[in-house]
Amino acid sequence: MAREHDQRLLSGILSFVAAHRDPAVGRFKDAMANWGTDWRAAPAQHLPAADTLRATMDLATAETRPLVALFEAENATRKWEQSYTKADGVVGDDMLAGYGFAEVIGKLGPFVSTKVRSGVGVFGRNINYPPHNHAAEEVYILLAGSAEFMLEGGPYERRQAGDVVHVSPMRRHGFRTTEHPLAVFYIWQAGDLRQKSSFK
Ligand SMILES: [Fe+2]
Repeated sequence: MAREHDQRLLSGILSFVAAHRDPAVGRFKDAMANWGTDWRAAPAQHLPAADTLRATMDLATAETRPLVALFEAENATRKWEQSYTKADGVVGDDMLAGYGFAEVIGKLGPFVSTKVRSGVGVFGRNINYPPHNHAAEEVYILLAGSAEFMLEGGPYERRQAGDVVHVSPMRRHGFRTTEHPLAVFYIWQAGDLRQKSSFK
């Protein structure tokens, strides 16, 4: 049953967040624990990025590997999506060809929430996610691989599996992968949970 697959992931991410010791992740614990009550089926949908997830597994840490393995175990049951299209003209072909995300909690489900958005994002090698911003507060927990992250006012800095990147509402941020792919766990709270990011 679809719900059982989703439920396995929900339990996994809620435990992962509840046990996380980083104070930035702590800011999201309440919203995650009280995400809501409703479930709706999110039909499976494949993207090339889904195939990259398995390759990131060797680049995880002891702490993050169980969650990557759980997402990989449910890879084929996930609805892989992209926020941007070629017509938007805001991200390049490199990104459209090699990235995707699978949401577990969010405005569109499978666990429906108006408070919090959370799931896994996968980026292949040599992808540039240009600087953008949004009203929601965000935290990235890098699960596997690495990327160079930029927060407004600072340089691009290398972050790797296990690292946490906190993004305040409306703060510009972006990242780029180099020789390794990236699997990242993300949480948004407050703001429009499906807002299209601004790249201006
Ligand atoms: Fe963001």
